Amino acid sequence: MADNPLRGHVPLSIGIIMDGNRRLARRFNLKPWKGHEMGVKKLEEVLDWCSEFGIKYVTVYAFSTENFNRPRREFKMIMKLFKEEFLKIANNLKHKAHLYKVRVRGIGRREMLPDDVREAMEKAEEATKSYKDYFLNLAIAYGGQQEITDACRKVAEMVKKGRLKPDDINEKIFSHFLYLNGTPSPDLIIRTGGEHRLSNFLLWHSAYSELAFVDEMWPEFSKETFVSVLKDFQRRQRRFGR
Ligand code: FPP
Repeated sequence: MADNPLRGHVPLSIGIIMDGNRRLARRFNLKPWKGHEMGVKKLEEVLDWCSEFGIKYVTVYAFSTENFNRPRREFKMIMKLFKEEFLKIANNLKHKAHLYKVRVRGIGRREMLPDDVREAMEKAEEATKSYKDYFLNLAIAYGGQQEITDACRKVAEMVKKGRLKPDDINEKIFSHFLYLNGTPSPDLIIRTGGEHRLSNFLLWHSAYSELAFVDEMWPEFSKETFVSVLKDFQRRQRRFGR
């Protein structure tokens, strides 16, 4: 692309921990969900940048299994935002998901979600299931330890039914039972909000990911910072333990 400020290798797959919505809202004396509303807008903007740079797979941490402990009102407002966004994807063919041909998938323990949110998510998944240009995984009701535990349970079931032998289990076979099956492991994981940890995000898939920590709160994450993180990624030599 003519105005692409990134020359050279662009990551195929990235993960984003969108942290700092509430802190930004507090800074402006706003209710926490105002921060989440800004967070949704920022995600749309970041997806524009990803399509501009040709980043094909994006996995974002939108709601962890621990986030179910948020105050009741905040929880309800976040669920309302998710539902609205999923229904927009499902019903509005002018939504960017259709414009860019993005396959949208929810990853996580979806049975923990309120029925209406889960149904809206499934409608968005159905409406975008044939797209292959870009892939957006929304980690909602997600935990990395839970993902591995759920995969173990499925593997154990297969063994119990005699369809898999314990000696045949290896990393490749195991990974087919994870929620992210089909998405390449992220080359790069970015966390906004100033904390330096993974907080139970993509524990299996982050084995060789480059990590980038950004001080900006998620709603203030700028294109300039994104470009500088991507340029830094290009400079790092990836050795995969060799
Ligand atoms: C992190 O900030 C964000 C969340 C816990 C959830 C909300 C995420 C979004 C609204 C963006 C995704 C939107 C869609 C439609 C998938 P925080 O509340 O933990 O911030 P803090 O660290 O300042 O408390």
